Amino acid sequence: MNNDAIPGRILIVDDDTALLEALPRALKLRLDGIQIDTSDNAADALDRIRETDYDAVVSDIKMPGLDGLEVLREIKKLRPKTPTVLITGHGEHDLAVQALRGGAYDFVQKPIDRDYFVASLERAIELRRLERRVDEQRHALERHARVLEHVDDGIFLIDDEGVVQHWNPAAAAVTGIEPEEALARRIDDVLTGWPTVAELVPIAPSPDPGGPSSKTLPLELGGKELWLSISGVRFVDGIVYAFRNVTEQRALDELKGEFVATVSHELRTPLAAIYGSAQTLRREDVTLDPETRGRLLEVITAESERLTRIAGDILLANTLASGRLRLNHKSVDVATLAGDVVDEVRAAFVDREDITIEVSGTNGIGEIVADGDRLRQILINLLDNAVKYSPGGGRVRLELEARANGIRFAVSDDGIGIAAGEQQQIFGKFYRVDPTLSRGVRGTGLGLYICRELARRMQGHVWVESREGEGSTFYVDLPVVRPVEQSEKAAVVT
Ligand SMILES: Nc1ncnc2c1ncn2[C@@H]1O[C@H](COP(=O)(O)OP(=O)(O)OP(=O)(O)O)[C@@H](O)[C@H]1O
Ligand SMILES: [Mg+2]
Repeated sequence: MNNDAIPGRILIVDDDTALLEALPRALKLRLDGIQIDTSDNAADALDRIRETDYDAVVSDIKMPGLDGLEVLREIKKLRPKTPTVLITGHGEHDLAVQALRGGAYDFVQKPIDRDYFVASLERAIELRRLERRVDEQRHALERHARVLEHVDDGIFLIDDEGVVQHWNPAAAAVTGIEPEEALARRIDDVLTGWPTVAELVPIAPSPDPGGPSSKTLPLELGGKELWLSISGVRFVDGIVYAFRNVTEQRALDELKGEFVATVSHELRTPLAAIYGSAQTLRREDVTLDPETRGRLLEVITAESERLTRIAGDILLANTLASGRLRLNHKSVDVATLAGDVVDEVRAAFVDREDITIEVSGTNGIGEIVADGDRLRQILINLLDNAVKYSPGGGRVRLELEARANGIRFAVSDDGIGIAAGEQQQIFGKFYRVDPTLSRGVRGTGLGLYICRELARRMQGHVWVESREGEGSTFYVDLPVVRPVEQSEKAAVVT
């Protein structure tokens, strides 16, 4: 593309052959390098215009056949952006005005004032060139905009007045705000939490290849908090922001941090008890009576079991998360299993005299095909919770019920209950309700995650109904017989 020099390519149309020779000569002297085509009739001229996108067209207004005004109309149809300079006869003011109204760029009167003519033509060519550049930029922008439609990052552009000029589908997906709700509105009105965040977003002064390093910031949106990894780039007339939703990642990071804290605490407590007991037993300076010895040994056994269970839960949770758990499906006598489980939990909580553990619905309940050990584990976890989270004592019930397609297990307690907002989350890995609310009860937050995942692998599911302060019921639904083809596959669940 020609950048600074005016010369371009023009077409001169005139039936006056003398002028058709003289004009180009004069122009070439003044506009070095200009390319000039000539045509002595309208039909031929229009053919050329159809073929070539001239920078400007100069045409006599009066020609036999099609006159200049009509040629002008045709040019406007063919090439609406090509500037057309019309040559009018001396004193033909009306015609000249008509030409301008018809969209001519300018007119020159005969006899032609060369300086004026050249200046006008130069302006016309320059105008066309600028328009071309604008078109190119617009196309480039449209191309970019189309690319933006498909990127995963949310992208929006705000102009210097803070008005949203672009809002890509990813931005809509992350924020839940559709482009038509955002475009042409002030960003502060679109994203209510924006003003507090805006100042903290790193803005690069120019679109450097590396881009600015983004920052993770919380954005208040519709009563929720979104964590965005966001950065901006300044352009001539605004700022383009690019962002990614990292809310889940952040929650997971937080959870991991909490998990490390919880687990290290959960491991340290039994270790301290074991260590203390062992140290006492080893002392040679004191003679311990058999009762104390027995108690210390019991502590060591119980706390070691606890450590083993925690380690086992962590391993199991990992195996479940990676999908590598093998299940061993067999026919299981549900009533016997339930009785065993309750005995086991009763034994584990012999010291909780304020708690009674009951089982019902075992009569004629029959068998299911399941992994008995894993089912036992689910029920023990639920009963363990029921007792743990009933600090004031009460009845813990395990109820069995035959349903149309399977068996329902219900574990209920009269304990502290679970707030509605927590009832989904407690099934998450490592999730524990605020310890002050769960009355400082110990745990890693893996129990329910394991229950849910195990049940799912047995084609069943677990859910809870609970009221804060009144108690909870956890349900487990398992199908009686698993479809044959699935039981084959489910032997190795991936
Ligand atoms: N029966 C219940 N009553 C009240 N809250 C419960 C009950 N069962 C579970 N919860 C809440 O759900 C959270 C998650 O339970 P989960 O069994 O997964 O972990 P945990 O009991 O804390 O630890 P772990 O079972 O690994 O020892 C608990 O911390 C507790 O806040
Ligand atoms: Mg638990």
